Amino acid sequence: MVSSHVIYVAVPISVIVALGLLRKWRSRSWAKCVTNTCLRGKTFLITGANSGIGLETARALVKRKARISIELDLASFESIEKFVEVVKAGFHKIDVLINNAGVVVPLKEDQKTNEGFEIHLGVNHLGHFYLTQLLMDLLKRATPSRIVIVSSTLHERGKINFEDLNLRAEIEVAKSGKAGRHNPGYCNSKLMNVYFMRALADQLRGSGIDVNACCPGFCYTNLF
Ligand SMILES: NC(=O)c1ccc[n+]([C@@H]2O[C@H](COP(=O)([O-])OP(=O)(O)OC[C@H]3O[C@@H](n4cnc5c(N)ncnc54)[C@H](OP(=O)(O)O)[C@@H]3O)[C@@H](O)[C@H]2O)c1
Repeated sequence: MVSSHVIYVAVPISVIVALGLLRKWRSRSWAKCVTNTCLRGKTFLITGANSGIGLETARALVKRKARISIELDLASFESIEKFVEVVKAGFHKIDVLINNAGVVVPLKEDQKTNEGFEIHLGVNHLGHFYLTQLLMDLLKRATPSRIVIVSSTLHERGKINFEDLNLRAEIEVAKSGKAGRHNPGYCNSKLMNVYFMRALADQLRGSGIDVNACCPGFCYTNLF
């Protein structure tokens, strides 16, 4: 009897420990950049690099001697324009633009950007769209150069209603306490990231500027 109890306890514990060790062993290569190519002389512009994925990306690039520029408020076109002026005064070219910054705000808070756009639409997509257009001549000067747009697998849940881009209907539903599990503002903005990547990649085909989007998967950051 004692030995069967031992088996009931020991087997699940051994399986859990074995799975934990396997996960630890596999995690050696997770979330780590494995290349050491020197990036001296390359200029990277990363939005949202003071925390989370952007910060880790900036750290990895600085280790490899890249120059990084980061500060702006994507919720204000004026701030974006001022930032671009500063960038143009300091940098002759940009090799890689990483459109990484993002917000998740409960829809019931009904937050807007300075120009009155729904906060996810305005920060996650429109701000980056505007920034990218304003920096295009610096990216062209650096060819072969690259634009990376950080989207999310939640883009698959986006459903864009072009008659209601500011999500008035969804915001009213959220205010009445009937919000669903996924934030439609965030999901739509991440779908817009993907549409933007596709349209821009087509437009810039053959120009020497690559355009890619990535979905980083779930990461423990300040976002959620
Ligand atoms: N974490 C995940 O699981 C996950 C999964 C899929 C995709 N993503 C995407 O990954 C990207 C990075 O997110 P994260 O997880 O690293 O989150 P995070 O730690 O919250 O970082 C978001 C960054 O965006 C910046 N930001 C927010 N509003 C801004 C604004 N108006 N203007 C300029 N910068 C602004 C933040 O700056 P402040 O701190 O100053 O506000 C912060 O540096 C986002 O695009 C997100 O959609 C994340």
